Amino acid sequence: MSDPLGLTTQALAAIGQARTDEELEKVEVEYLGRKSGHVSRLLSNIGSLPPAEKAALGKAANDAKRAIEAALAARRAELEAARLADLAETEAIDMTFPGPPLKRGHIHVLTQVRREIETVLESLGYKVELGPEVETEWYNFEALNIPAGHPAREAWDSFYFSPELLLRAHTSPVQIRAMQRIKEPPIYIINPGRAYRRDPPEATRLPYFSQVEGLAVDKGLTVGDLKGTLLYMIQSLYGRDRKVRVRPSYFPFTEPSFEFDVSCGICGGMGCKSCRHKGWLEVGGCGMVHPQVLRNGGIDPTRWNGYAWGFGIERMAMLKHDVDDIRLFYESDLRFLEQF
Ligand code: PHE
Repeated sequence: MSDPLGLTTQALAAIGQARTDEELEKVEVEYLGRKSGHVSRLLSNIGSLPPAEKAALGKAANDAKRAIEAALAARRAELEAARLADLAETEAIDMTFPGPPLKRGHIHVLTQVRREIETVLESLGYKVELGPEVETEWYNFEALNIPAGHPAREAWDSFYFSPELLLRAHTSPVQIRAMQRIKEPPIYIINPGRAYRRDPPEATRLPYFSQVEGLAVDKGLTVGDLKGTLLYMIQSLYGRDRKVRVRPSYFPFTEPSFEFDVSCGICGGMGCKSCRHKGWLEVGGCGMVHPQVLRNGGIDPTRWNGYAWGFGIERMAMLKHDVDDIRLFYESDLRFLEQF
């Protein structure tokens, strides 16, 4: 390589193509290396040249060296700028910089429905009463007229901690606790809360769910009072066009006992897929409090009587929002939850 101009052109091309500091380093050594760099070699036999050519070659070699050095410096600066820009984009973390604002959440649909139920019943004079989720057998069963060995226990099979302690299978034990606490009727309470049963998860059932229990103890209460109260509650929540009905049923702690149905909001009671062509959706059980249950709560059934109900809050939310799978409430999928 004896032509300084050609050498410069070549060096500049190599510099332009270099992508890293190491590549630039190589180019630098190759062209400007003290002993075997191309520019040094250009001058290796300068001593044998005539003076005029000597000067010309010396100058040309110097120009080449300067041009290559300048190009190296420019390319280095370019690569460094790119590296910093990249770093700024991918790795710069400024701990003092305020984070993105948190999205504002809202109350879970089940809580919304529970609060609506509470508001409606509080407007009728009911008070919210709470009770423990871990119950004794006595409150969960015996006090509610379900002695050991009674076949009805199967319907409320739950999770036991010990032979004496279990996760309550319904909110009805709070009926007893409320009577024991308040002692003197009139009693008008509701108890919203969790209940647990040994049911495998399905579209209509879960091993954990919520109920709202209601209990009224007063003088001369009738099934009409019970039905009227529940009709008022249902129409306040779902609108005046909903119909309700009671069907004879059996619970050991009420007599008479009923299943309570609400007309389907999708078909208006005509029958559709959502209500399995029945026109009605079941929300829970109700009835007149069994005299023995009043006695177990410390209340004299010759002076007082009462009614009670226990509705599934998830069922009520499903009815309200036309949700067809109970599991959705507990999956924490924002696409579902953000709709309410
Ligand atoms: N405890 C009953 C259940 O869980 C519902 C119920 C409550 C029925 C009160 C009658 C009176 O199914």
